[in-house]
Amino acid sequence: MTNIAVLVSGGGTNLQALIDAEAAGKIENGGIRLVVSSNPNAFALERAAKAGIETAVLRRKEYDSAERYGEALDALLREKEIGLIVLAGFMTVLPDSFCAKYENRIINVHPSLIPSFCGEGFYGLRVHEAALAKGVKVTGATVHFVSEVVDGGAIIAQKAVEVEPGDTPESLQKRVMQNAEWILLPQAVSDFCAGRLSVSGAIVTRQE
Ligand code: GAR
Repeated sequence: MTNIAVLVSGGGTNLQALIDAEAAGKIENGGIRLVVSSNPNAFALERAAKAGIETAVLRRKEYDSAERYGEALDALLREKEIGLIVLAGFMTVLPDSFCAKYENRIINVHPSLIPSFCGEGFYGLRVHEAALAKGVKVTGATVHFVSEVVDGGAIIAQKAVEVEPGDTPESLQKRVMQNAEWILLPQAVSDFCAGRLSVSGAIVTRQE
């Protein structure tokens, strides 16, 4: 059984997708044990409390450096014997030391088809604003392992979503969440916990 920690900063719809998948028995061999928020006002904390999941708040500004922040987070995770960390709309960049320690044990969801519209500065609605400004006709979501390079780790799964005429960043964000993120993320978490993912360099292979 893999103990899962979900890291959040905002609304927590991806956390909700994970909670719902677990309740429906769709996360094979894994359970969400802890939700950590970088923002004390995140609605995601209410979602976690409602589901009876333990929560913690770790604010970046309360630590002198990213390293100290990473150490505090690591201490929390070790206490709960966490084997998988899921970044579900977590807006704090983790230090290299933390990413290295948890190599291939941190999964992130990003709201575009990486390598488009990703990296430093591309998060949340900004990603969809950039996609619309570029005039792409197809966008989507990516689930990937986290490395020291922002949005640069090995890709686990991607799903394309059409841009429609008249889309706003908000309407596009909603379609990408509903049609891609909320499906891909629980699936990837289940695959990880069931031991179906193997990583070799940049390539992730999924065994049936
Ligand atoms: C999601 O769209 C997620 O992909 C994105 O933030 C949103 C969080 O929504 N993450 C990033 O942009 C990370 N670079 P949620 O709190 O409702 O899950």
